Amino acid sequence: MQTIAVIGAGMMGKGIAQTSAQSGYKVLLTDVELAIAEAGKAGIAKGLGGQVKRGKMTEEQVAEILDRITPIGDYAPMAEADLIIEAATEREDIKIKILGKAGEVLGADAIMASNTSSIPITRMGATCPDPTRFIGMHFFNPVPVMRLLEIIPGLASSETTIARAREFGDKLNKQVILAGDEPGFIVNRILLPMINEAIFVLGQGVGSIEDIDNGCKLGLNHPMGPLELADFVGIDTLYEIVKVVYQTTGDSKYRPAPLLVKYAEAGWHGRKTGRGFYDYSGETPVPTR
Ligand code: 3HC
Repeated sequence: MQTIAVIGAGMMGKGIAQTSAQSGYKVLLTDVELAIAEAGKAGIAKGLGGQVKRGKMTEEQVAEILDRITPIGDYAPMAEADLIIEAATEREDIKIKILGKAGEVLGADAIMASNTSSIPITRMGATCPDPTRFIGMHFFNPVPVMRLLEIIPGLASSETTIARAREFGDKLNKQVILAGDEPGFIVNRILLPMINEAIFVLGQGVGSIEDIDNGCKLGLNHPMGPLELADFVGIDTLYEIVKVVYQTTGDSKYRPAPLLVKYAEAGWHGRKTGRGFYDYSGETPVPTR
């Protein structure tokens, strides 16, 4: 594999593009329009600039990484990609539209992956021109830092596709784990009920935002408390994942906490909107309740 195309220049798409370029791949980065893909590359440049300031990288290394990333405004150039990774908004209708368009230009030997957090891979694969060459590749935020890559074969994914996805993960220096195509796969099946429960705990007045987060940070050695993590991942994204897991299993233990629904509906989506469980308008985040 030499060329990777990443569809979606949000938090996850940028992270996947940066990590792939850092591992020597040529990367084509796209979004709904060229300007967004260009802004995505500028965001990557800013992050890498920080690494230079901290003495972790040289200007030359950063220039080489950025040289490998090309923002594109339409799908045609992706015909040269060996792997196309969809990393768009966590909504099945949006993802299926993208996969349909990407499937039209997918090279004869190339494979296609979705970075979905929860949507069934088999179901999405069935909408692709060649389901044998489609697979789930679930990255974790921030992608350049988190060591894990969860690979989820669909019912139709071929052994070659699985092997190629694994080989890509190895090249990115990620620890690859293989998950079944079940709601939430492995990690989100475990993580989401924890975050959702923390929101129930908050809603029922059992603890304050600070005490819930400190409880998990200091009592469990988690790097971030569950509410801080919810803001970091995005409350809208979490809500979509919880809904998928709840609807697909029909199991009431996965029902979204009422406060999660309210925050999602209020547009209080966390860091990216400036407000979630914390307020991000000042220098340091302040709990909002
Ligand atoms: N890009 C590149 N490097 C980054 C980065 C980014 N966006 N963010 C942080 N880093 C690097 C820093 O440069 C630093 O590197 P160094 O050790 O070489 O100096 C290192 O990561 C630590 O960063 P900081 O010192 O700034 O901050 P912290 O020590 O507080 O760590 C954190 C930040 C790594 C985000 C840590 O708080 C953490 O691990 N949080 C939990 C993250 C997590 O759980 N992610 C998974 C979310 S679930 C998910 O993504 C799945 C989805 O489907 C829901």
